[in-house]
Amino acid sequence: MAENKSGLHAIITLPRVFNFIQWLAGAKMYRNKMLQDYIKPFDGCRILDIGCGTGEYIDHLDDFCKEYEYYGFDGEAVYIDHAKKVFKDRKNVHFYLQILTEDSIKDYEGFDMVIATGVLHHLDDQIVTSLLKVAKLALKPGGKFVSYDPGKFEKMSVLENVFWKYDRGRSIRTVEQTEALIKPIFPNYKAHTPYLTYYKSRNIVFECFNT
Ligand SMILES: C[S@@+](CC[C@H](N)C(=O)[O-])C[C@H]1O[C@@H](n2cnc3c(N)ncnc32)[C@H](O)[C@@H]1O
Repeated sequence: MAENKSGLHAIITLPRVFNFIQWLAGAKMYRNKMLQDYIKPFDGCRILDIGCGTGEYIDHLDDFCKEYEYYGFDGEAVYIDHAKKVFKDRKNVHFYLQILTEDSIKDYEGFDMVIATGVLHHLDDQIVTSLLKVAKLALKPGGKFVSYDPGKFEKMSVLENVFWKYDRGRSIRTVEQTEALIKPIFPNYKAHTPYLTYYKSRNIVFECFNT
């Protein structure tokens, strides 16, 4: 089981509850830092967001580039329905209720960047491998895959332990465990363990280059 959807976790599936919890967790700050320090979008770029949730990155992307083409995919119908409603007037954003596969990505490839933010720790190893293969196929030569997840560390603060214990995602990995999945598909990568919010809880960020 890579995701806990029972009890209180079930209400997080409601888009407004999900967005509120993300806001409480400092999402505005960590999304801006992710864009500024790692994703680095540029004018005219094409972005694929795997596990896009409610598409909350779009408001932040607008501050970083004037023109971009955004494709968000998620397997949760309520999130995609919500995103389609909120962004219905936007010509440059597209949402799909679909789990991408190595076959289906062929219809969309040619991206400058692929992101999976807060997604890998919800997935078993086998599904992470499949997601990484999809990301690699989706990227243009020279493009970049960026992931962000809470992490497991040798010595964790009380707060990090709370996140590790109660997060909906049941596959919170160490840097080394994530690296073991990334390396066979993206041999050229950088791992980071930054604090991205107003509180002290480390995250694991991977920048993977399609060289
Ligand atoms: C914590 S949310 C992150 C949402 C968004 N990326 C963000 O940063 O706000 C994790 C998302 O991963 C999605 N997800 C779960 N399994 C997936 C899979 N196999 N492929 C793609 N997305 C998946 C969930 O539906 C959920 O929307």
